[in-house]
Amino acid sequence: MAQTEVLPATPKPRVGRTADPCVMVIFGYSGDLTRRKLIPALYNLASQQLLSREFAVIGVGRSPMNEDDARKKLTEDFKQFATGPVDHDLWEWFVRRITYVSGDFDDPATYDNLKQTLAKVDQEHDSHGNYFFYLATAPNYFGDIVERLAKVDLMKEENGHWRRVIIEKPFGHDLDSAKALNQQLLKVASECQIYRIDHYLGKETVQNILALRFANGIFEPIWNRRYIDHVQISVAETVGVEKRGGYYDGAGALRDMVPNHIMQLITLTAMEPPISFEANAVRDEQAKILHAIQPFSNEDVLSKTIRGQYGDGTMDGERVPAYRSEEGVPPDSRTETFVAMRLLIDNWRWAGVPFYLRTGKRLPGRNTHVVIQFRRAPFMLFRETQVENMMPNQLVLHIQPEEGISLRFAAKTPGPAMQLGEVNMDFEYSDYFGVSSSTGYERLLHDCMIGDATLFQRADMVEAGWSIVNPVLDVWKALPPRNFPNYPSGTWGPKESDEMMERDGRRWRNFEK
Ligand code: BG6
Repeated sequence: MAQTEVLPATPKPRVGRTADPCVMVIFGYSGDLTRRKLIPALYNLASQQLLSREFAVIGVGRSPMNEDDARKKLTEDFKQFATGPVDHDLWEWFVRRITYVSGDFDDPATYDNLKQTLAKVDQEHDSHGNYFFYLATAPNYFGDIVERLAKVDLMKEENGHWRRVIIEKPFGHDLDSAKALNQQLLKVASECQIYRIDHYLGKETVQNILALRFANGIFEPIWNRRYIDHVQISVAETVGVEKRGGYYDGAGALRDMVPNHIMQLITLTAMEPPISFEANAVRDEQAKILHAIQPFSNEDVLSKTIRGQYGDGTMDGERVPAYRSEEGVPPDSRTETFVAMRLLIDNWRWAGVPFYLRTGKRLPGRNTHVVIQFRRAPFMLFRETQVENMMPNQLVLHIQPEEGISLRFAAKTPGPAMQLGEVNMDFEYSDYFGVSSSTGYERLLHDCMIGDATLFQRADMVEAGWSIVNPVLDVWKALPPRNFPNYPSGTWGPKESDEMMERDGRRWRNFEK
């Protein structure tokens, strides 16, 4: 019987369409992602009235728990991870929709049990037979779980209902394994049922790159090789590898950040205007950029890529250990925790404009930004200020932790002499729109529930991302680094990263905040 229960009234107005009725099945219910991100995000959607009233959650996990325990555990966790004030009635409404199935992910009985539970929950909540499966599990389960779901017919879309699956990086650990995973998934599900999350696309400021470029008339005419000197993309982190040594040491900074998050930032910055904001129109343009990135030859890898590993050092006045002394990391590890590279995009818009990117752990500031550096003024009339001393115009897209956009330009300093100084025009998200209290998963979960795949990765994009980094992985593997650790914690990476820029007459823009 369908429930007639009404979602409690909430203070937040709805902006956007209410999601379809559906059941979300979370594999990995007891894991970190579920309690830190997924549940708080679902609650936030409910509080913005974006969640259907015919919604339910089934958790699947190995820990034996009954429904009451599963709900209690979540309520405890939620107290810790809610992103804003909690409306008690709304949380009660939400938590009553949670059911739990315990079982191993590789045991066929788990899927039979899940199928029965789904049928029951679907009927109770009138969720129209729409199901989506969130695989918050170790990546080695992705292919198997989807195959097993298909075996018990849970991926079959018929009679107007939909079935979707969400997976989150890593999608493979190189090009071959990514292809193998895609093939395994596509054998039992169609591309439009697979939602590959890159959590960078859930960030408002990342989505805002599209708004900045395509909702304003003034940027597009100068967004090309005629006016832009180069682009820098930095994803700097202050944290070390934390408790993830086991995973990270097998991956390294290149795999962990470049074919996914950094490629998102590159494609959104560099893509052509899409003909619409329909999922494939946007993704086609992103894919074209990935295909246009000039492949690295072996020589390029040596001259245009830099790798580093942090040693011990001082951060915020505290001593921090070297990567090799972190939990789960072998004392002679050769895994990189820093990478920088110079890319070229071979198309008419960008020919000859270098894209420099870098990412690393234990850098002096947590800061993700895209710097668009424009060409210098062609000649300088102001004799008191030498042209070489003036920094060229830069448009900086601040992704995090500051969220905003700033434009640096020259202005006359007050006084009788014609002297120039640099000034900034700043826009900060929080000044206009307040501080966001979201987890970054709200939009992505909601999009999946309304069938909008624009912000998700297609199989071809994932493979194109790996094709770019694969030659680097190969050369790096063949030539293990000899000088690790090569940057102290709390510095901007190995000196070769600055030298790469200096050789080109450029320099990184560092933000320490
Ligand atoms: C993850 C990486 O995908 O992204 C982590 O595995 C990294 O190593 C994280 O720290 C960075 O995400 P954010 O949102 O903090 O920039």
